Amino acid sequence: MSDDKTGSNQMWGGRFAEGPSSIMREINASIPFDKALWRQDIRASKAHVAMLGAQGIVAPADAVTISDGLDKVAAEYEVSGVPENWDLEDIHMTTESRLAELVGPVAGRLHTARSRNDQVATDFRLWVRDACDAALAGLEALQKALVTRAGEHAHSIMPGFTHLQTAQPVTLGHHLMAYYEMARRDVSRFTDARARMNQSPLGSAALAGTGFPIDRFATAAALDFDKPTSNSLDSVSDRDFALDYLMAAAQTALHLSRLAEEFIIWASQPFGFVTLPDSLSTGSSIMPQKKNPDAAELVRGHAGRIIGSLTSLMITMKGLPLAYSKDMQDDKPPVFEAASLLTLCLAAMTGMVESTRFRTDRMRKAAELGYATATDLADWLVRQANIPFREAHHITGAAVKLAESKGVALDQLSLDELRAIDARIDEGVFPALSVEASVASRASHGGTAPVEVEKRVAEARAALGL
Ligand code: ARG
Repeated sequence: MSDDKTGSNQMWGGRFAEGPSSIMREINASIPFDKALWRQDIRASKAHVAMLGAQGIVAPADAVTISDGLDKVAAEYEVSGVPENWDLEDIHMTTESRLAELVGPVAGRLHTARSRNDQVATDFRLWVRDACDAALAGLEALQKALVTRAGEHAHSIMPGFTHLQTAQPVTLGHHLMAYYEMARRDVSRFTDARARMNQSPLGSAALAGTGFPIDRFATAAALDFDKPTSNSLDSVSDRDFALDYLMAAAQTALHLSRLAEEFIIWASQPFGFVTLPDSLSTGSSIMPQKKNPDAAELVRGHAGRIIGSLTSLMITMKGLPLAYSKDMQDDKPPVFEAASLLTLCLAAMTGMVESTRFRTDRMRKAAELGYATATDLADWLVRQANIPFREAHHITGAAVKLAESKGVALDQLSLDELRAIDARIDEGVFPALSVEASVASRASHGGTAPVEVEKRVAEARAALGL
């Protein structure tokens, strides 16, 4: 079956009579994607070899030679990229092989007291930890944009919807701050995930630990981990950290997708609530008038792929016994894909929030036309005429029906028309029916009243250091 009977693998070929088939080489190779880990791999190897030298497991002079050699390999990767040779399988063997070419047989001492199993677990944790930091930075920019625009529009009135039907007037600032709250929870999920993953698997070796007198606390500290992990079997087979990241990423993507969907709806001509920035829109090759919300649509689309990444890794992991199995090599593509999509989605939505023109005149008109203050009429009947809410609801329904049949707003009905529906109504009702009065009245904690929104914006600005 082997296409290459001339030689077995130089890293593990001792027990093999012949080399792998081309199919084996291709299915085995992770270098096409795990070369993205090269910085983490070099960093972790340098921490490992420094510890080996300090512990006298390799001669200190050899440790220095190896460490300097790793710097040279890194410099080459920086300039020319990581070479892709399937025979070397992955980033770990690629780097070690190049190191051997540069420093000679002493390179073979680097892998003492280490396995690719703890090596990849360490490299990948370092990578995912950075991805958490990138997500947190992106979320901070989004939050700042949301809070800034919400502050500008604490008093701008728009229809609030349930079932996408006009429900009650709200302020645009309140609506935007709803997404700030979602982003705040997303931040807490990434922060939480980062804190939980911040333990070093390095030194767990293949699965059982090692007989060499290593110092796992030293390598953990060198890699900015809080401490070493506590169980070697768990350490080489745990991918919870990647799943934690993907869960936080999927939840964030879901929020971004909902926000994108709002912009898509608001930008459509019948709504006309926003004019999207040209810089985040595209035209049509056939319809000259078109300006399409493609960036928002792609954020909505990419959310599906990010959620798919989470599903993919969960399914990879769910049937694996302890400890490492090669299935786990498939952990990286979904995480890499999700991370680059998430970065793009966060940037796109931040730009959209920053640069969209809100057409507050159209929003206000829509709020006025949609009988959005019907609840305020019912509430007035309860408060001023001491009518039970259910009855007030019924009376208000009749008023809406009449207004609708006449094609007018509620506050455009005459007092006589309203009194014909219920004699307990007096002229005091009219001020309560304006959209301003409606939002101003909803000053319960977390409500839409401009004074409340301004309080929440002030708190958020303080939290963000704005
Ligand atoms: N390329 C492998 C991965 O990404 C590295 C670990 C290989 N370990 C092994 N026992 N074959 O998972």
